Amino acid sequence: MTLPRALLALGVAVAATAVGVSQDAKQPDPPAKVSYYKDVRPVFAQHCNGCHQPAKAQGGYVMTAHADLFKAGEREKPGVVAGDAAKSYLLELVRAHDGKAEMPKGRDPLSPAQVKLIADWIAQGATDDTPASAKGAVVDMAHPPAYAAPPVVTSLAFDPAGEFLAVSGYHEVLLYSAKDDKLVSRLVGMSERVNAVAFSPSGERLAVAGGAPGRFGEIQIWNHKRDDLVVSAPVTFDTVYGVSWSPDGKTVAFGCIDNTVRAIDPTTGRQKLQMGTHTDWVLGTVFSQDGEHLVSVSRDMSMRLTEVPTQRFIDNVTSITPGGLRGGLMAVDRRPMKEKKMQKVPEDTPGVPPKAYDELIIAGADGTPRLYKMHREVKRQIGDDANKLREYEKMPGRISGLAFNPDGKFFAAASSLDGKGEVRVYETDAGKKVVCEGVTGPAYAVAWHPDGKTIASAGFDGTVWLHDAASGKLTRSFVARPATTPAAKAAAN
Ligand code: HEC
Repeated sequence: MTLPRALLALGVAVAATAVGVSQDAKQPDPPAKVSYYKDVRPVFAQHCNGCHQPAKAQGGYVMTAHADLFKAGEREKPGVVAGDAAKSYLLELVRAHDGKAEMPKGRDPLSPAQVKLIADWIAQGATDDTPASAKGAVVDMAHPPAYAAPPVVTSLAFDPAGEFLAVSGYHEVLLYSAKDDKLVSRLVGMSERVNAVAFSPSGERLAVAGGAPGRFGEIQIWNHKRDDLVVSAPVTFDTVYGVSWSPDGKTVAFGCIDNTVRAIDPTTGRQKLQMGTHTDWVLGTVFSQDGEHLVSVSRDMSMRLTEVPTQRFIDNVTSITPGGLRGGLMAVDRRPMKEKKMQKVPEDTPGVPPKAYDELIIAGADGTPRLYKMHREVKRQIGDDANKLREYEKMPGRISGLAFNPDGKFFAAASSLDGKGEVRVYETDAGKKVVCEGVTGPAYAVAWHPDGKTIASAGFDGTVWLHDAASGKLTRSFVARPATTPAAKAAAN
């Protein structure tokens, strides 16, 4: 470039700037620099990633990693073209026309402000400003996590046929054969934390509650026999807990850190229920045997009852007196009943039809399991704890796992305190207890095999203990740590 031309160019630049300044007074400010990490990614996580992730790439399009956004899906148009909003197919699909947008499919359109954020980010070059510290290695079905140490096990479940034992891992659920403890499948999803697992009543689906702390919560519904993620529903902005199925398999409930208890449709991921009267994290849920009511337990020390069809808060099952319970509640299970009974209707609610009689076991920070009936059968007196049926001998530490046996005559509980743990089996009516031997670390989870003879428990050190429930004898144990990468699956088959 010769000197005069350079000067000329400079002059033009100066003039252009001057024009820009003079017009600024009339025109809106140029869009502020949009952050992918802080602004755009959370929108995708909440509204898109459930259907556009490696385990479930609808339209052949993945949105969980920045680099994937620039690729083309089945329609062979790149989702994002850096600096060119007009050529970015993704933007075309999220723009609403007559209040409807193609994406998110079947949902309400993004807000105009959200669409503008995405448009501005693309126009500004669609760069990735994710801090290095937040950039984890890619983890998906093709790249299952590698374990430096066994996972902390927070949840366990046997399927109703007694074929599988699901164990919560890191970023995945480890599915073991209940017969010989062989790893059958690794169900790797988006959630780095897996807090709870539960099989559907038919045994055809596995529900998983988890998320990433401070970023998103997620409910996954797997067809675990085919390694197929059927639904990934993003829920709230933090991890979720205590997942449970309605007896008809049509509703999946869970607890949230925003103090709500919620439920979704497990075939669509759509929310069906939200109840917000708890005052602290909700950690456990269970449905009544007829599916009409949902019970939730919370760190707020209460167990509450929601009517499912109306989403209405019905009652505090536990005492409403402060200090009625010492410490937050972490676990709940409903007692299986051979005969269906109806509750007695309290005299202060004439005309209200009687409800199916149910009993619940709850426990938490104070280490004392307690048995309650679900519905009040007497008029409430201030300060009463009228639904309480009995208490059991306190366990050392806090109880975070509870499970009834198939006929409800026994329940098992898992506790932890100062690096130690205990697993016990209690007789529900007599209160007699058996302490399980050989539990070497804090125990967080317990599950009962459908044959009623074996209980599985696990916790901090990743060991799964299998006990004979009647005697408390350790029959065997294994460490829930997959061998490295795909070989694990090959070896297991
Ligand atoms: C409930 C599931 C669901 C959600 C949520 C969803 N999508 Fe989709 N998306 C689909 C399906 C299914 C397709 C395949 C085309 C179709 O059926 O319309 C698709 C296709 C696409 C495609 C085109 C891929 C191709 O080349 O065929 C893009 C881009 C896309 N979605 C972006 C988004 C964005 C952005 C969001 C969030 C704002 C979003 N989607 C939310 C289900 C979903």
